[in-house]
Amino acid sequence: MNFTHNGLSGEIHIPGDKSISHRSIMFGSIAKGKTVVKNFLAGEDCLSTIACFRKLGVKIEHEDQTVIIHGEGIDALKEPEEVLDVGNSGTTIRLIMGILSGRPFHSVLIGDSSIGKRPMTRVVGPLKEMGAKIEGRQSGEFTPLSVTGGELESITYTLPVASAQVKSAIILAGLQAKGTTKIIEPEKTRDHTERMIHAFSGNVSNDNGTISVEGGQSFTATNLIVPGDISSAAFFLAAGAIVPNSKIVLKNVGLNPTRTGIIDVLKEMGAKMTIEPYESNGHEEPTGDIFIETSELKGVTIDGDKIPRLIDEIPIIALLSTQATGKTIIKDAQELKVKETNRIDTVVNELKKLGANIEATDDGMIIEGQTSLSGGTVESYGDHRIGMMLSIASLISDGDIELYQPDAIAVSYPSFFDHIDHLLVK
Ligand code: S3P
Repeated sequence: MNFTHNGLSGEIHIPGDKSISHRSIMFGSIAKGKTVVKNFLAGEDCLSTIACFRKLGVKIEHEDQTVIIHGEGIDALKEPEEVLDVGNSGTTIRLIMGILSGRPFHSVLIGDSSIGKRPMTRVVGPLKEMGAKIEGRQSGEFTPLSVTGGELESITYTLPVASAQVKSAIILAGLQAKGTTKIIEPEKTRDHTERMIHAFSGNVSNDNGTISVEGGQSFTATNLIVPGDISSAAFFLAAGAIVPNSKIVLKNVGLNPTRTGIIDVLKEMGAKMTIEPYESNGHEEPTGDIFIETSELKGVTIDGDKIPRLIDEIPIIALLSTQATGKTIIKDAQELKVKETNRIDTVVNELKKLGANIEATDDGMIIEGQTSLSGGTVESYGDHRIGMMLSIASLISDGDIELYQPDAIAVSYPSFFDHIDHLLVK
């Protein structure tokens, strides 16, 4: 990649949020009636979710950023004749298991080689406790998995890891169980599932970190507009802050407080940024525009309950930190090891190849700034966020960066390179 430019300027519309797009398909499929979803993220992960629900018998129309789901209620889901392939998507496989656990039929779940390495016991364990029969490689830790659902009992479950995917899988099973399922969340994680339940006229409550959901609810179709994905915006927030002579506007960014850790970090680092929240625009997720320009940054420490609010942004925060003065310490982030790649290793190894002063720790990394980055040959290892981080690095590197496996970026941001091209001042 060799982007010759004189800074970044102009505005881009951030594509739909991946987490919310997945949930829109799932809830549209178990609700009764026609759900119309606008600004849907047509990235590979969310297309995997559509493909799985079609195999479960749901009629789903999809064109560009609009999806129409003809839901007939959860009882209308049918035993799939083929395996359900989730591709690279952890959200699809973990959440769909929650739905399948209460369905009286058999399904087989597979994914790509990255999915085959990601831990599933965190979801399989509580779902089996509720009564689902789930089997898989290494006692249900890895795909391929088979799920035979049926009648479920409610449970009270304390999340051992701060994971919205685990929480959501249990909520989706709890919606089909006898009685009230309670999930105790020691650290708050993204609450898109809870907001979506309200949007589809269901009930869920959160009392000081205990989420309660009653079984036997039915949902009514609705229309949704998916806000832009702050995790995608994060790459351009970073670019705006570290590429010299830049001033850009990111439109339609989701500002759900469970996701805005990146904004807090940028502010603490000293980024010149302003946020203009939209007035209520008819959906349940707060949204707004973000203005950002080239900034002098300083290192920060990121740990504890800040981590779940920015877990997916740590690769790009690492790059930001190479351009900040002083030390940045990221700790309590051991969950990075079980993402699409082991992101402690992939971030540290690839940035080192470009000359960054960065070291891995057991639960995060330490970055010393400010270093100029050189060119070099790097790899995404099939991880979309690693690919995007390294592409943004090429906007500030002294020499050319060659990126292997750039295609992974289509998992969450198919228009990523078009957006870079649109913002470049040539
Ligand atoms: C997601 C939750 C997070 C996040 C992932 C999407 C979701 O994973 O990293 O990209 O949509 O619920 P965990 O729940 O494993 O932390």
